[in-house]
Amino acid sequence: MADQKNGLMTWIDDRFPLSETYKYHMSEYWAPKNFNFWYYFGVLSFVMLILQLVTGIFLTMNYKPDGASAFTSVEYIMRDVDYGWLIRYMHSTGASFFFIVVYLHMFRGLMYGSYQKPRELIWVFGCLIYVALMAEAFMGYLLPWGQMSYWGAQVILSLFNTIPWIGPALTEWVRGDFIVSDITLNRFFAFHVIAVPLILVALVFLHIVALHHVGSNNPDGVEIKKNKNAEGIPLDGIPFHPYYTVKDTFGTGVFFIVFFAVVFFAPEMGGYFLEHANFIPADPLKTPEHIAPVWYFTPFYAMLRATPSMFGSAFPGVMVMGAAIVVLFFLPWIDRGKVRSIRYRSNAFKYNLFALVVAFIVLGYYGMQAPTDLGTFLSRLFTFVYFGYFVVLWVISKDEKTKPVPERVTH
Ligand code: HEM
Repeated sequence: MADQKNGLMTWIDDRFPLSETYKYHMSEYWAPKNFNFWYYFGVLSFVMLILQLVTGIFLTMNYKPDGASAFTSVEYIMRDVDYGWLIRYMHSTGASFFFIVVYLHMFRGLMYGSYQKPRELIWVFGCLIYVALMAEAFMGYLLPWGQMSYWGAQVILSLFNTIPWIGPALTEWVRGDFIVSDITLNRFFAFHVIAVPLILVALVFLHIVALHHVGSNNPDGVEIKKNKNAEGIPLDGIPFHPYYTVKDTFGTGVFFIVFFAVVFFAPEMGGYFLEHANFIPADPLKTPEHIAPVWYFTPFYAMLRATPSMFGSAFPGVMVMGAAIVVLFFLPWIDRGKVRSIRYRSNAFKYNLFALVVAFIVLGYYGMQAPTDLGTFLSRLFTFVYFGYFVVLWVISKDEKTKPVPERVTH
């Protein structure tokens, strides 16, 4: 039996680098031994991606991308399809959880300087994933064809209108009609179920290839490749399989307990994951009283609303919102620090990161509320704080007073 297996493996290996790939990415991928809680969110992002793909495939089997029947087909999935409610709630709750884990994953990167040299490309691919994920979520939200789907898409698509000269023509081209219609629904369906998922999967592949080429960072920000034994194995590295496969399986189990508690007991999350207005079919003649995107977009939406318009156009707001995302790509070059981990960086670095988190939460909150004077004031203030993070980081990282970084990882 063993010989047969070896024979088969040899046959495959002579034709395809199976053992080599397995060793390179699993059994001989030397991961730092000091990964902590924050290092679960990479694998959890991956778990969410797979879960969304699988539940999405099953939803597509009964969903109808047609303005006349989309809403009722979702109701049909919820009421008549066996376990349709479970698949749909896993997918809708999954969207929010995907963003939760990705935001925590990004925050880990900020804390431990995982974007710094030589991991700039891992970060850039990550930012591209983030943009693709936002497009994916935005287009998916139109599909149930509820009031919020319809009017949310209407508001966001009309932002293209603000682009000077080409705006109106571009909006019409993207929308495919003079208003959001069945045509828009059809193309969003095509992008949501195949085009963007393909891009996402490709980007995640590149993200991991880049990661495994340079090796993982860790909570100490110490380069483990600097200290190797006689065989060239990092002294502070342990094989990814079985050590981290086991650890990640445990983490995924705990995560699923939380995830399914929400799926079973609070899938709408009080209107934060599935907005109340989306249980009413889309009506092009009736605008809901208050249109707000789902929570994961609201920090940027708050920036958009907080920016004063110019000559009656919201274009400056669109620029600010775009800049808030574009600036992320440049982070590896904005941070000029030599020390990676927050553990050994200055207090200024810590306060600055804390301010960013507060800004993101406050903006996220006000982006969900109907506009008020206080909300507008605070949104403006925290938009400055958000951009201020990058400016302050650039300034303080030049000659930062850091603590001594240990030679080896602390454990
Ligand atoms: C579908 C979304 C994503 C998936 C599946 C994914 C997957 C992963 C995995 C499996 C790892 C290795 C495990 C870990 O370090 O936690 C990782 C590392 C990393 N990811 Fe992501 N990621 C995603 C999105 C992002 C985003 C949006 C960013 C940032 C904008 C990002 C930045 C990074 C960085 C900098 C590392 C290296 C971390 C280190 O070594 O300390 N990722 N990613």
